[in-house]
Order: sequence, then structure tokens, then C-alpha cells
Amino acid sequence: MTAAQFGVLRDDPELLAIATMIAPERLPALLFSAAATALVLEHEPSPMRESFPRVGAPQPPLSPDFREQYRTFCLDHRDDLLKLCEAHRYQMNEVGRCADLVPALAPTIAEGRELVLVDIGTGAGLTLHLDRYRYVFRGPQPDRMTTVGDDDSVVVLETEVRGSLPPPITPVLPRIVDRIGIDVEPLDLFDSGVRAWLAACVPQESAAITRFQRAVEVAIANPARTVRGDACDVLPAILEGIPSGPLVCLVDTYAHVFFSAEALARFHAIVEQFGGRRDLDWISVDPLVPLGDAADRSVLDIPVPAGLLERNRRLGLFGLIGRVRYRGGKRARSLLGIAHPGAAWLEWIEAQRAPRSARRMTPG
Ligand SMILES: C[S@@+](CC[C@H](N)C(=O)[O-])C[C@H]1O[C@@H](n2cnc3c(N)ncnc32)[C@H](O)[C@@H]1O
Repeated sequence: MTAAQFGVLRDDPELLAIATMIAPERLPALLFSAAATALVLEHEPSPMRESFPRVGAPQPPLSPDFREQYRTFCLDHRDDLLKLCEAHRYQMNEVGRCADLVPALAPTIAEGRELVLVDIGTGAGLTLHLDRYRYVFRGPQPDRMTTVGDDDSVVVLETEVRGSLPPPITPVLPRIVDRIGIDVEPLDLFDSGVRAWLAACVPQESAAITRFQRAVEVAIANPARTVRGDACDVLPAILEGIPSGPLVCLVDTYAHVFFSAEALARFHAIVEQFGGRRDLDWISVDPLVPLGDAADRSVLDIPVPAGLLERNRRLGLFGLIGRVRYRGGKRARSLLGIAHPGAAWLEWIEAQRAPRSARRMTPG
């Protein structure tokens, strides 16, 4: 469906004329498609609605008339569409990225540490509940599958494991004793308008809309603390307020990629200062920066092998999973893996031995 929506927009001069009224930095194609989806979900136009997926149901076939239906609908709702684009920004919250974080957290299980999770750029706060989901890692061989997490969870996050190195998957998920989200513009899931807009920003694929909707239910049932503010401004006080004992674990998925070089340097300085005094992990899943073909580094400032830079140019955007770890004041940095932006696949690159209590993927 995502490709179909973009395809109609790309090929239609009248729709493109609408999209070009949106400023380039506001991601016109994505914003246009999200606004059109929001209107489709609101008005449920028949028969076009039947081409869009419903939560929990299989992906419906695309009508052969979709192109004409979609363009006519968008042109008929031109003013509303532009109003939505004016009032909103494109806000993608992909709970599937938790599957990129889980293997990166494996060493904390081996250490027997409880965690205080601090999610930077938390958006709607879906990552804060990563211990409340069930994970299914499939592959690399077709008959291989490893699962972890709550068997009864309504959120099931499936990802395909690629490459030759299996990620370390622990038999249990980390025990999270406190969770704090930080965002310049946190998203209030108790507001139905916010929920509707976020649902429209999700690619209209059955699995994606279902995991998003279910994760929203989990977040609403388990309200977590969210702090509004620029991460560099609010993080120091948050860190100081965390009681001694648990391991402080900063996570960020697709947040630091939006930081300026100065802001990123400031964030590094905060982490370095705190990590010198207290054990801490910072796990990042972010594209290489700067975005695009000129990308030459990770947001964690870990040198990136030439092969990965080349793959970034060839394959396009992926999330680099990396970790900075402070133990006893000493810092260790590792590149762990790469992952599809929508968490469809994960490829582990860290060639270290798995910690004792972590198991490598086995047939399940
Ligand atoms: C692309 S969204 C990612 C949301 C979520 N982490 C995910 O992966 O689905 C990036 C989020 O980072 C937030 N953000 C960007 N710069 C920030 C900053 N300096 N401090 C705090 N939050 C920031 C944005 O408001 C947005 O919610």
C-alpha cells in the first residue's frame, strides 16, 4: 500500500502540485501520504477503504482501480488535506525497533542488572515498554526461530535475522525498574486526535498498523513518565535523580540522527561526564550521519568500517545499532548490527562471544 500511495503521487501532476505546496524540510511526500491516509481512515470512502488494511486483519488486495480512486479522493479533499499538512508534522513511531534493542541489552542480563530505561526522543513512548512485548526472531536459516518476552503480550514484534552472525537473544528480557521518556514534543496517547494522526503516519501495511495499535494499548494501560524538553537540557537533572543501584540505560531510536553536530557533541559530553561516575549504557539505533550518500560516521562517534559506508550508499538508509558502555568509569564502544528502518530485518555484526547466560539463536 505504501508503494502504491507514493506511486500515484509521483505520477500525477495535479497531486504533485498539492505536495509542492508543502515546504521541503517538512517531508512533502510523507506528510501528503499521512494526511491522505488520515482522511481515508476518517471518511472510510467506499470502495477505496477496502484497499487499506485493518488492525489485526490480513493485508487486503489492492483494487485495480486504486490509482483512480486515490487521486480522485485526494483532489476532492484537497483543502482538508492541506489543512492537515499545515497542522501536523510527519511523526513516525515504529515500535518494531525494540527488536533492534533487545539483543543489544543481552549483556545487562548476564550482569544481572536491573535497568532504569531512559528513552531519548521517545515520541509516543512505545519503546519504554520494550519488556512488555513478545519478540520473534526468524532465520537466518528458514527453520530457525527464537522467541523471547511475554507469551501473552498483545504486541508481537517479528523480525527476520539476516547475515551469518546470530544476535544474542537472552531467555528473558531485562527487568526494568523505572522508565522515563524524553522528547521536545512528547505525544499524548490519551488524546484521540494524536492517536489518529500517529496511526495515519504508520505505513499502511497490516503488520505495521497492528503492532502500532497494540503498542498504543499497552502504553495507555501503563502510563510512563515523560519529560518534555530538549534532551541536552533535561537529561542531566534526570540522571542525577536516578537512585543508585540499577543500571542506567539510555536508548534512542532514530532520534540522535536529528541532532545538530553541536547538540550531539553536547549530549556526548553529558554521557561522558555521568558515565565517569556511574555505570551506564547508551544504545543507539540511528542511520549513519549526515543523512545521505555523504554519511561517514555513527551518532555514537564509533568509527564505521568502509564496507558499511559502502552498503549505506548502495542499500540506502538503515539503522546502525551501537552501544557505548561505562563500567567502573571505563568506556567501551561497539558497533553491534544494522537494521531495516521499519524493523523488517536485523543483521548482527558484532563478532564477540555471547555472554554466558545469553543464548545464540537456536531452532525453536
Ligand atoms: C523519528 S522520531 C522517533 C520516535 C521513536 N524513538 C521511534 O523510533 O519510533 C524522533 C523523535 O525525536 C524527538 N527529538 C528530536 N530532537 C530531540 C531533542 N533534541 N531532544 C528530545 N527529543 C528530540 C522528536 O520530537 C521525535 O519525537
